[in-house]
Amino acid sequence: MKRIKLWDEEFEISIPNSQIQQVIKEMAEKMKADLEGKETLFICILNGAFMFASELMKEVELTDAEISFLKLSSYSGINSTGEIKELIGLNEVITGRTVVIIEDIVDSGHTIKEVFDQLLSKGAREVKVATLLFKPQALKVNIKLDYVGLEIPNDFIVGFGLDYDRRGRNLKDIYSLVKEQFRN
Ligand code: IMP
Ligand code: MG
Repeated sequence: MKRIKLWDEEFEISIPNSQIQQVIKEMAEKMKADLEGKETLFICILNGAFMFASELMKEVELTDAEISFLKLSSYSGINSTGEIKELIGLNEVITGRTVVIIEDIVDSGHTIKEVFDQLLSKGAREVKVATLLFKPQALKVNIKLDYVGLEIPNDFIVGFGLDYDRRGRNLKDIYSLVKEQFRN
């Protein structure tokens, strides 16, 4: 198993890029069928979802779609702080629109719930959620996930947009943290 080191922690490969691409293709097909003709506004949650959004948007091939970006952060190191900060707001008109949130991972679900509620309060007609990864065991809120790429165990992961203290976002595969007792 391929291992990498980020700062002081070891990670081993858990989801290869080929599998990620396959999952994205399947999600894109489903989206295309659901959203054709709806003039959808996709909102990519930065920073983590940048790579997923880029790959997904290339596959979706909708000609009436728009993409925007929203920056939030709720993680500091490995533990979720539960604090949600909106750093860059939205400039688009949301009222009456079909909006799809693009997220890298739903962990506790606080981030996605916050964005979901804010979009509804701005008057969106419908808000859908697309996440590449979902940790069902970590979920703490009540939220409907419309598009889920892969369900994963409650481990800390990096790669394909996800970071460990700012590092690892550029990796094309996804890696899981190696617990101390399994290290060399
Ligand atoms: P939530 O609010 O707890 O659902 O956390 C969502 C955000 O935390 C995601 O957008 C990620 O940026 C980050 N996050 C959650 N789990 C992980 C992980 O395993 N590795 C890296 N970042 C994570
Ligand atoms: Mg994120």
